Amino acid sequence: MVDLADAARRVLDAVRPHIGEGKVATYIPALGNVDPHQFGFAVAGIDGTVHGAGDQDVRFSLQSVSKVFTLALTLSRGDEAIWRRVHREPSGTAFNSLFQLEFEHGIPRNPLINAGAIVVTDQLLAETGDALGLLRDLLRAETGNPDLDVDRVIAASESETGHRNRALAHLMASFGNMRNPVEQTLDHYFRQCSITVSVTELARAGLLLARHGLQADGSRLLSPQDARRVVSIMLTCGAYDAAGEFAYRIGLPCKSGVGGGILAIVPDRCAVAAWGPGLDAQGNSVTATLALGTFGSITGWSIF
Ligand code: DON
Repeated sequence: MVDLADAARRVLDAVRPHIGEGKVATYIPALGNVDPHQFGFAVAGIDGTVHGAGDQDVRFSLQSVSKVFTLALTLSRGDEAIWRRVHREPSGTAFNSLFQLEFEHGIPRNPLINAGAIVVTDQLLAETGDALGLLRDLLRAETGNPDLDVDRVIAASESETGHRNRALAHLMASFGNMRNPVEQTLDHYFRQCSITVSVTELARAGLLLARHGLQADGSRLLSPQDARRVVSIMLTCGAYDAAGEFAYRIGLPCKSGVGGGILAIVPDRCAVAAWGPGLDAQGNSVTATLALGTFGSITGWSIF
């Protein structure tokens, strides 16, 4: 029997000497203002009980971790057409890389790199009229925080400096792979990335996947098959060009964001969220990666 409260404390002990390591993302200037000397860890058991350690209640920018939930929302609508617009293969390139997209005729490698996530947001927006609103409602329900929202300063900062995302979106539009005007889709995409959560909230939201698509209120968002698909894409694509290293070191499906958060899923057992603002060269949090590896060693839990 694994004591999750004790595991959370031991993770913090192991990570403490490394807090502050890595480089805070500065390509989105508002993220550069975050104090790197912070670390939070939380694990939500399948019964909904959360155990945390460190800065477990400090909110940070969700960034690319949001991509998992917009994909879940798109699949929840039975929208198989999305798979004609985005592939399901690891990219082996940086999360905002342009060159592969040109070679592959505007069809992104997977829904968890920026280009793929922009397509998913574009699809959800075209089908529903409000991609951001749906995501915010889902996350409010699953985190249990009715006030969860977009950080407007970060969203504005993303938009002001979002040249690469605009380049990706326009390149896809040139291949006929955008359904809405580029700026309209990017407005939803930038705001979805700028939602703030704590690790406690994120771990709770991750239970959606640990419970194979069941929401906190017991209703079903995703079929078990689609929930498994989302988790398998997290394993192969959730850490970009470090996905192989993550599978080797952590052995769990993960999704990282440049805000320093990482969400990991242990199906049928728990969802784990770790956060430290300092990133490695691939854009994954140094301390959150270490925390998840340590958690795996303590619990022995892996999908392999
Ligand atoms: O679009 C961007 O570049 C950011 N809003 C999100 C990138 C991100 O989080 C990549 N994750 N490691």
